[in-house]
Amino acid sequence: MRNHDDESDAMNVGGILIAGPAKGPLRGDIIVPGDKSMSHRSVMLASLADGVTEIHGFLPGEDNISTAQMFIDMGVKIEWLNDEKTSLRIHGVGLHGLKAADAVLDAGNAGTCVRLMTGVLAGQDFASTISGDASLCKRPMRRVVDPVRKMGAQVDGGDGGNLLPLTISGGKLKAIQHVSEVASAQVKSCVLLAGLYAEGVTRVNEPKPTRDHTERMLPLFGQPVEVAEDGTISLAPTDQLSAPDHAVDIPADPSSACFFAVAASLVPGSDVTLKSIGINARRDGWRRVMKAMGADLTLLNEASVGKEPVADVRVRAGGLHGMVVDANDVPDAIDEFPVLFAAACLADGEFVLADAAELRVKESDRIAVMAQALLAAGASIAEKADGAVIQGLPALSGNADVDAHGDHRIAMAMAVAAQRAKGEIRIHNAAAIATSFPNFVALAQSIGMNVCWAEDD
Ligand code: S3P
Repeated sequence: MRNHDDESDAMNVGGILIAGPAKGPLRGDIIVPGDKSMSHRSVMLASLADGVTEIHGFLPGEDNISTAQMFIDMGVKIEWLNDEKTSLRIHGVGLHGLKAADAVLDAGNAGTCVRLMTGVLAGQDFASTISGDASLCKRPMRRVVDPVRKMGAQVDGGDGGNLLPLTISGGKLKAIQHVSEVASAQVKSCVLLAGLYAEGVTRVNEPKPTRDHTERMLPLFGQPVEVAEDGTISLAPTDQLSAPDHAVDIPADPSSACFFAVAASLVPGSDVTLKSIGINARRDGWRRVMKAMGADLTLLNEASVGKEPVADVRVRAGGLHGMVVDANDVPDAIDEFPVLFAAACLADGEFVLADAAELRVKESDRIAVMAQALLAAGASIAEKADGAVIQGLPALSGNADVDAHGDHRIAMAMAVAAQRAKGEIRIHNAAAIATSFPNFVALAQSIGMNVCWAEDD
């Protein structure tokens, strides 16, 4: 178990990336690792199912390993089928087969893990305590605690249950109709997972549609989920999830691919193909934003992996221009805004993002932290309460030290921005890249990006 006593964990996690400028066009095909959201869900559903499930294309990032470890701690047998930890076999224990863990369940840096597990733990007839690293301990949990309390679970935590660690005593839940104030797939999924255990039909409404991987994956385990015309999502309780007949295949993560899409758009002469990435509309906001910015993106080889649509996306360098982001695209691109900010700083004209205050409660305050880092690198960006206004420049000055604040996506976004800087950018506290994209640097180098790890000073 990791030790999270040290308050500096999130702010001083080590790892310095030295990035940019690109030495020439970026070229090649890239296969990015498996989808983080789906990897979490696959472990959860397979562990709660009766029978044995094989999962392929799993993301072996620290966040997903935290989820797997949590189920191991509660008595689930998980076999890794290869050294890379991209294939695994899970011996499900059934919806009522988990055992109380001996110690605090540790979600590390993973918001998706802790929020979805709040729903799972609410359904158990034993008490569990769940916590995470210093960054996760600052993130709001009331959004998931309130609904599971209404369903009948008892939850104790800091700030009236808003902060980790949370102690969740579950069992005997009743269904609710949850009208979520935030557009959050984590909240929706938490309530649906608790709903598996509740008496009655659980319903969820969200202010804007969010990623629907839980709804798509539950039927693979024999559990139908209905989505009505008005967007209401409903799920009936069950006694059993069943391991699927076939392995669960997880497509490549569009949120990881997007870093290379932006890099290839920014570096003149580049031509990069992102192989077989998820293009589910609820994850495809980044492509809509980039197209509206004038990016040269071509979809090839459309297919499906499991219940998810995928395609190759060919990206050729193109003169990006500014735009106003459509508020409806915000949830569908929520994880991509750090790198889209980097694109906007190097586009022609003004880029405006509003209605995106959720960015302030991610692994870091992504509006403040990106603004600080981009300003230090020579960009023109004004922070707004719920977004940013950016004036594009032909190049960043670079020759700067910036702080990723232990946030994986900030570190990778700044490595991309650096490709069109005049001097290098040193990105501190970047080690968290391993939470979602352990081989980012190797893949970036494979298409010619100028980025490497330095020794900590
Ligand atoms: C996720 C949902 C999003 C996203 C996160 C993964 C998920 O969070 O930012 O990286 O897997 O459900 P919110 O639901 O809080 O928007």
